Amino acid sequence: MVDFNTELIHGAEVNDNNTGAVNPPIYNSSTFAFDDVTVPIKWDYARSGNPTREALEELIKKLESGYKGFGFSSGLSAIHGVLSIFEPGDHLVVGDTVYGGTFSQLNDYFKRWGLEITAVNTQNLNEVKQAIKENTKAIYFETFSNPLLRVTDVAAISQIAKENHILEIVDNTLLTPYLQQPLKLGADIVIHSATKYLGGHSDLIAGLVVVNNEQLAKKIYFSQNRLGGTLSPETSNLVRRGIQTLAVRLDRQIENTNKIIAYLKENDLVAKINYPSVNKDSKDYEIALRTTNGFGAVLSFEIKAGYDAIKLVNSLKLFKIAVSLGAVESLVELPATMTHFEIPRNQRLKIGIKDELIRIAVGLESADDLINDLKQAFVKIQK
Ligand SMILES: Cc1ncc(COP(=O)(O)O)c(C=O)c1O
Repeated sequence: MVDFNTELIHGAEVNDNNTGAVNPPIYNSSTFAFDDVTVPIKWDYARSGNPTREALEELIKKLESGYKGFGFSSGLSAIHGVLSIFEPGDHLVVGDTVYGGTFSQLNDYFKRWGLEITAVNTQNLNEVKQAIKENTKAIYFETFSNPLLRVTDVAAISQIAKENHILEIVDNTLLTPYLQQPLKLGADIVIHSATKYLGGHSDLIAGLVVVNNEQLAKKIYFSQNRLGGTLSPETSNLVRRGIQTLAVRLDRQIENTNKIIAYLKENDLVAKINYPSVNKDSKDYEIALRTTNGFGAVLSFEIKAGYDAIKLVNSLKLFKIAVSLGAVESLVELPATMTHFEIPRNQRLKIGIKDELIRIAVGLESADDLINDLKQAFVKIQK
């Protein structure tokens, strides 16, 4: 058993070539030849399995301490694969601030398909308990909600799930296994948009799923193979490569995040900063401290009423105005018009995503340059 940081580099095994290559090969083959028509072979068709994808699936399985990993063509395809293990008429309890695309897949697709959904604040364990019904089959949430960074206790929800014989499904995109391993805290299924920190360079779209037992593995394998949203060998290799630098990237990103927060705290135009360590009396901080190895590199902040959030965002030069997060470059976005536009305004305001809320995903640039960029943008909105 090697350390997590060693696993990041060496976890994807180079096991079937004789060249001395230090990286697993990219197998660009959709089909594989039989030696004998009567003897089954391990690989027969690349949707069912591909050695390059398997190297990544093995790697994420190890990093999440799971039973089996699966590569999908996007995070949403991974979520589709997971939710497809349920039956029409099943009920799910879902975090009320899940990613907008997930919210839309649940409400605009899976409701039509026959799933019943109740959205709750998963930080409030009573709300979760009260939402569970006879036909409830799972609780689904993101540990750190996006963009408000509200923290859910994976271990406490696991207890509730176990008492009710239902599954706990965690989208671990924001934290990654470097900062939290939900299966170790009792979750049953972990999902990643590998497009974000695992890929790490804004140059691919990918999704990963890890499950904690054989029965779930069979179900997810069926979804992966029959729905067919599998990850290509080239992209599997890029995600594997991205994962090798996950820890060093996140270390720098978290360092930069803390410096930016220190600057925002001193800024008179900032009304509120959402990041677990900002309010040491908060439940978010207490849960995050207990269940994670770090608070990540996404934060959001509200500027004071009457100041122009759109102008502030448009004035940034180094921060790119873009959705997504988790890459080497810093990004900024306005959730109300970008990532969370699918959520009706009334509901969005109810869950605290105001029009003047700005989210930043901190990259690896010099923290001083990032802070200077914010400073010059704040000057533009000064009255
Ligand atoms: C938390 C979270 N889950 C899932 C997704 C969907 O992933 P993808 O864009 O790779 O389909 C996203 C995308 O932004 C996300 O932020």
